[in-house]
Amino acid sequence: MNILILGSGGREHALTWKLAQSTKIDRIYIAPGNAGTASLGINLKVDPEDFEAVKNIVTAYDINMVVVGPEAPLVAGIHDFFLKDEFLSSVPVIGPVRSAARLEGSKDFAKSFLTKYKIPTAVYRSFDRSSFNEAVDFLKTLDPPYVIKADGLAAGKGVVIVADRKSAEDELNAISDGKFGNAGQRVVIEQFLKGIELSVFIVTDGKSYKLLPEAKDYKRIGAGDTGLNTGGMGAVSPVPFADDAFMKKVKERIIDPTMNGLKREGIEYKGFIFFGLMNVAGDPFVIEYNARLGDPESEVIIPRIKSDLFDIIEGVARGDLAGRELVIDDRFVSTVMLVSGGYPGNYGKGYEISGIDRANDCVIFHAGTKIDGDKIVTSGGRVLSVSSFGKTMRDSLDASYRNAAQISFRDIYFRTDIGFDL
Ligand code: AMP
Ligand code: GLY
Repeated sequence: MNILILGSGGREHALTWKLAQSTKIDRIYIAPGNAGTASLGINLKVDPEDFEAVKNIVTAYDINMVVVGPEAPLVAGIHDFFLKDEFLSSVPVIGPVRSAARLEGSKDFAKSFLTKYKIPTAVYRSFDRSSFNEAVDFLKTLDPPYVIKADGLAAGKGVVIVADRKSAEDELNAISDGKFGNAGQRVVIEQFLKGIELSVFIVTDGKSYKLLPEAKDYKRIGAGDTGLNTGGMGAVSPVPFADDAFMKKVKERIIDPTMNGLKREGIEYKGFIFFGLMNVAGDPFVIEYNARLGDPESEVIIPRIKSDLFDIIEGVARGDLAGRELVIDDRFVSTVMLVSGGYPGNYGKGYEISGIDRANDCVIFHAGTKIDGDKIVTSGGRVLSVSSFGKTMRDSLDASYRNAAQISFRDIYFRTDIGFDL
């Protein structure tokens, strides 16, 4: 069994790390991968959104299964491309078909799906460019702050939350002027939900599903959840407030109706579903769906999977997931993201990373790294994710921070308060 993982971040390193432990896999290829995945498999310089190039490596390297990490190839229809191709149709793709990836690719589609299947979510309306003036009227019916979302994929930057109506109108004008390009052809305006966020994940073969560990991520750049949004600065799992009573509500009000809705729509969803939730005074609401695993959530939830992950995804591919066993480690895992100074704005690249070999009692997942001669250098904003186990959340955080302190590169920055609110 040869497997191809698409993507290049910490999530893909975590998937590679876990699948490399499976005795059922011969070779792992990663496209394009990073310096971390290079130590566990073979990196191939291919863009996951270039489907013809992906096809070439699948045939050239005799690949038997493809796991898609990021959303862009899914939303662009990579799974459908495989199904339609006579040589590729027998190669299973772990990741939904395009019609299902719309749950992430179109906020308007996600909101209408949520509404249709009576799944708790913020009150909303959506507007296209010609009806932006009606959007201004809709704003008047909501209390501030205002949440404005570009409909399409905007690399995690398509959500704006503003304090007053004037700023909301300015924002609508900016979107109308092309701030989010095509992703902003349509906007969703919704009620602001006050609460604490939670990331919940399932893996499904389209018939049954298994609940993966939940996680909380820390999106803001600064301590105390301040400053600009980033891809994620750290994460913890499990999340203490996601107790049995809360997770029962999540299952009954959100996961089960989502699975039923997909079946009703005639969509066979094969892959991961990420429910971005808000816990509003003990009740879960859906903020967003993602058609993939989260990052940095993967760096805490994948280490907690004790079972062979290949066995689970093979169940997804074959449609017999219900008969497979998923065992979860009950210890805590936390991860701290080491980023390039200046991120999420401008930052330098190509700086040598040292100290990775000094870290112990943790797993270091690479995100923005590459190999340059005999060195490992920075190549992105999020550089390394330091994940550690602990009997308590505090123990796991202490281990992550102890190890983070061993690592250095020019202008290194990380948040020192991951888990502060739990
Ligand atoms: P998203 O890209 O949909 O995850 O949104 C980015 C962030 O905006 C979320 O992680 C939340 O912190 C925030 N957000 C999105 N929608 C809402 C909402 N309706 N109420 C409050 N915060 C929201
Ligand atoms: N950590 C949030 C995401 O992956 O979208």
